[in-house]
Order: sequence, then structure tokens, then C-alpha cells
Amino acid sequence: MYCIETSLLSKSYGDFVAVDGIDLKVEQGKIFGFLGPNGAGKTTTMKLLTTLIPPTGGQMNILGIDAISSPLEVRKKIGVVLQQPSYEPTLSVEKSLEKYGMMWNVEKKIRKDRVEELLSAFDLVDIRKKKNDDLSIGQRRRVQVAREFMHDMDLLFLDEPTAGLDPSARRGLLDFIKSKVKDGLTIFFTTHILEEAEYLCDDIAIINKGKIIAVDTPEELKNKFGREKTIKIHISEQKNISSLLSGIQDCKIEYDSGVIITVRSSQSEQVLQNILQILASNGITVEDLSVVPTSLEEIFLSVVKNSNA
Ligand SMILES: Nc1ncnc2c1ncn2[C@@H]1O[C@H](COP(=O)(O)OP(=O)(O)OP(=O)(O)O)[C@@H](O)[C@H]1O
Ligand SMILES: [Mg+2]
Repeated sequence: MYCIETSLLSKSYGDFVAVDGIDLKVEQGKIFGFLGPNGAGKTTTMKLLTTLIPPTGGQMNILGIDAISSPLEVRKKIGVVLQQPSYEPTLSVEKSLEKYGMMWNVEKKIRKDRVEELLSAFDLVDIRKKKNDDLSIGQRRRVQVAREFMHDMDLLFLDEPTAGLDPSARRGLLDFIKSKVKDGLTIFFTTHILEEAEYLCDDIAIINKGKIIAVDTPEELKNKFGREKTIKIHISEQKNISSLLSGIQDCKIEYDSGVIITVRSSQSEQVLQNILQILASNGITVEDLSVVPTSLEEIFLSVVKNSNA
């Protein structure tokens, strides 16, 4: 059974189709990353899946429950942190957590323990008595994400939870999420930070203009779209290098300056061998050499660009 399963799920606003017939399958205990450019339909999809807005078409089953006919059943079992900031200005950090636990009827002893655990996990101990109003934007976001972990849930939706967090707070949150997933939680997660998706997610879907244009593991996405590698060769002296290398096949070569050659190829090993041979036989010394696989970020940009074409 899947934790999230949708079929042709759609949402229109008048003539505008924000989510256009998407099919999603998310397995239990996984972290599912949902990526896409601004306005692609990520938040709208999240609002549909968490039953905050009704779909205009399609089916969705959340945790084995028909989410269209029984939205309240679903809401008892999920957590959601929306993209929009949400806080009570006059409540202190610790009271915000405490109150959230009370709202979810968490037993007093467990509530107290969780407040302490979360204050520490989200690095909020020093500011526990501060009012939300007096917090920095990143601190406020940390409180907003932390409080969601006050209650038990089977499935958690996070809409850009790390937006506004500094690198160490971000890494802290990602590792905290990983530890909760080890304990059985399933996560549906949106981000614009590709390294973050790669670090965290078991599967990734890319959405553009309301349609899903790719779904796979980060590794497979790279295999499918990113066989190409970039080779940079730094040579010692300026020579008329372009004519020497003009016969090499299966690659694109750029000559940024006289001494740096950038080569892009999906057959990087063969191409590199050929180039090094030519350089050696012409007495040109290689000062530095690097071969870099195409990043998930480049794949994302090219997949989105192709789907716009
Ligand atoms: N209530 C609404 N009425 C009309 N159009 C809407 C409404 N809500 C969202 N949209 C439109 O739907 C599209 C998808 O919006 P959505 O918020 O889902 O994008 P997103 O992928 O979350 O983008 P971002 O990365 O900026 O958060 C946008 O073009 C947006 O303008
Ligand atoms: Mg959004």
C-alpha cells in the first residue's frame, strides 16, 4: 500500500489549470522530494494532498483513506508545514510548542518531554522565552517546523521547510527529518535547493506548469539525464590548441582563454584519452585536470527547459 496515491489529480482556478492530472505514488517510510520552478504547482498539490483545498478532478488516497470523501480522517493522521509563515505573535517559543501539543491532545508528560527535545533539536533553547514577534525570520521558521513534531503522525508534508534557514540550521533540520524517517515517518517535501533533495530524498518528482515531467531516484535521474561530464584541462602555455583538437569527435570544446579547455561529453573517458594523447605528442604540459559529473541542478534546468519547449 502507498501512503500517497493519486490518479489524474487536478486543480483549476477558472480557466487556469494549476495542477494538471498528476499521478503520484509515495511509499511508506520514504522521503519524497517535490521539485519545480516558481508557480509550477507544488504548493497547490500540497494543499490538495492535505485536504486544505478540494480538487477539481481525479482521485487521491492518503494512508489508505479516500481523501476526497473523508478529509477529516486524513487530517488526524498527517502533519503539514505550509510555505506561508504562521505563528502567534505574543506567544513565547516554548509556549508555542506546548500549545500545539495541547491542540493535538498530547498527554502532559509526553508534551513536556517533546518540548525539551524539540527546543534542543532545533537550537531554540537560548530563545525559549522570546516572543515569536521578536524572533528573526529563520528562528520563526524553525519554531513553525519544530512545533509540527509535537504530535504523532504517519505522514508529514513540508513546503520549503528550509527556506530562510542558515546552512547549519538547514543541515540540522535535514538530519532531524532523517532520524524521524528511520522511526517510520513518511515525508513529502518541497525545496528549491537541489543538493538538499539529493541529500535527503529517496525519490524525486519534477513538476512544471502543473504536470509531472520526471519521477525517479536522484541517482537514476542523473543516469538518465546526466551521463554528460565536464572536463576542464589547464595547460601550461598558450598554443594554437583549437586546430590541434579540431578532429576530436563526440564532444563540445570551449576555449575560455588560451590555457583553459572545457570539454563536455557523454563519452568523457574516451574523449579525455584522445585529448591527452594529442597534447602529449605536441609537447604541451597539463597543469591541472578535473572531470565533474553533471549536477542535479543542471539536470533540473535542462528537464524544465525541454518541457517548456
Ligand atoms: N487561489 C488561486 N487562484 C488562482 N490562481 C492560483 C491560486 N493559487 C495558486 N494559483 C496559481 O497556481 C499556480 C501554481 O501555484 P503554486 O503556489 O502551487 O506554485 P509553487 O510551485 O508552489 O511555486 P513556488 O515555488 O513559488 O512556491 C501559480 O501560477 C499560481 O499563480
Ligand atoms: Mg509554493
